[in-house]
Amino acid sequence: MSSLTLPFKTTDLNQLSRDVVSNNNNKSNDSIADERSPTTYHDDEEEADKYLNIWKNLWSKRDTAWHLDSFHPILLRYQDKLLEGRSTDNPARVLLPLCGKSNDLKFFYQEGHHVLGVECADEAIYDFFNLNGLNKETSKVPATKSGKIAKLHSTPDRKLNIMQKNFLTLDSKLVNGTIDCVWDRGAFGTITEEEQNLYIQTIRRLLAPNFKYLLLVLEFDQSKSCDPVPMPQPEHKVRSYFGSFCHIEKLESRVPNHVNLYQRHMGNPMDVRETVYFMTPKK
Ligand SMILES: C[S@@+](CC[C@H](N)C(=O)[O-])C[C@H]1O[C@@H](n2cnc3c(N)ncnc32)[C@H](O)[C@@H]1O
Repeated sequence: MSSLTLPFKTTDLNQLSRDVVSNNNNKSNDSIADERSPTTYHDDEEEADKYLNIWKNLWSKRDTAWHLDSFHPILLRYQDKLLEGRSTDNPARVLLPLCGKSNDLKFFYQEGHHVLGVECADEAIYDFFNLNGLNKETSKVPATKSGKIAKLHSTPDRKLNIMQKNFLTLDSKLVNGTIDCVWDRGAFGTITEEEQNLYIQTIRRLLAPNFKYLLLVLEFDQSKSCDPVPMPQPEHKVRSYFGSFCHIEKLESRVPNHVNLYQRHMGNPMDVRETVYFMTPKK
C-alpha cells in the first residue's frame, strides 16, 4: 500500500479510495442529493469541464504564449511575504492552480516546500517534468466529491505534485483544508466569470486556516486586445470575489519588463499592468 506525503494529509490512498466508493454505495440517491447545494458544481461536473478542450487544443499546438521562461519576478519580490520565514525545516504546502508548465513550481520545490500544481493538459505536465529534468511517478487519487479519480504526477520524493484534472471540481480529503500558500498567476484572471465562481468555491475548500495568498491579475484596455483571454481584472472585481473571506492588500500595479509577452498574445503594443494582491484570512 502506498501513502502520500505532503502537500496532502498523509493518508493511505487505497483505503481512502475504498472509503469514497463504499460511502457512496451506502447512500440512497436522496441522501447524496441532500448533501448538494444548489449553487455548487456538484450537480454537474461535466458542465464544469466544458472549457477544458479550448486549453487542451492550445497545448496540443504548444500555443502557450503566456509562458515565462524564468521564475516570475513578482514571486521573487514577494516570496518572503508569501512564505513568511517557512523553509525546509517548516515547509509550506503551496498550491499553484492552473499551473501550466510554470517554472514557479520548481522555485517552491527547490526552496524545500511541498508543491501542488493543478493542470488539465497532458502536454503541460509532460513538458514540465521533461524540461526540468525531473523524474515523474504517476498514481491515482480520488479528486472530486463524487469520488472520481485523477492522475497525480509526482517527483519520487513526492514533494512536487501536479494533479491532472479540472481545478474547478477538485474536492478531495487529501487536499481540502491543507493549503498554506497560493501563488496564482494566470489562473483566476484567465477564466470566465462562471468559472471564477467555481474557482472561489474550490479555493475556499482547499485553504488552511492561516493561508497566505498572492494573486496576480492583469489590467489593460480590453477593447484594444485581439484575444478574449486573458481578461482585465479591476480591483473592485477582485474585492467582490475574494473580499468575503480575505483581507486584501494591493501590493503593486505596474507594466512588467516582460510586457511584450502579453502584447504578442493580444496583438497590440499597449500597456498591460500586472497587479498583485496579498491576501490573508479575514478575521
Ligand atoms: C494562462 S495559462 C497559465 C499557466 C501558468 N499559471 C503560468 O503562469 O504559466 C492557464 C493554464 O490553466 C490550464 N487550465 C485552464 N483551465 C483549467 C481548469 N479548469 N483546470 C485545470 N487546468 C486548467 C490551461 O491548460 C493552462 O495551462
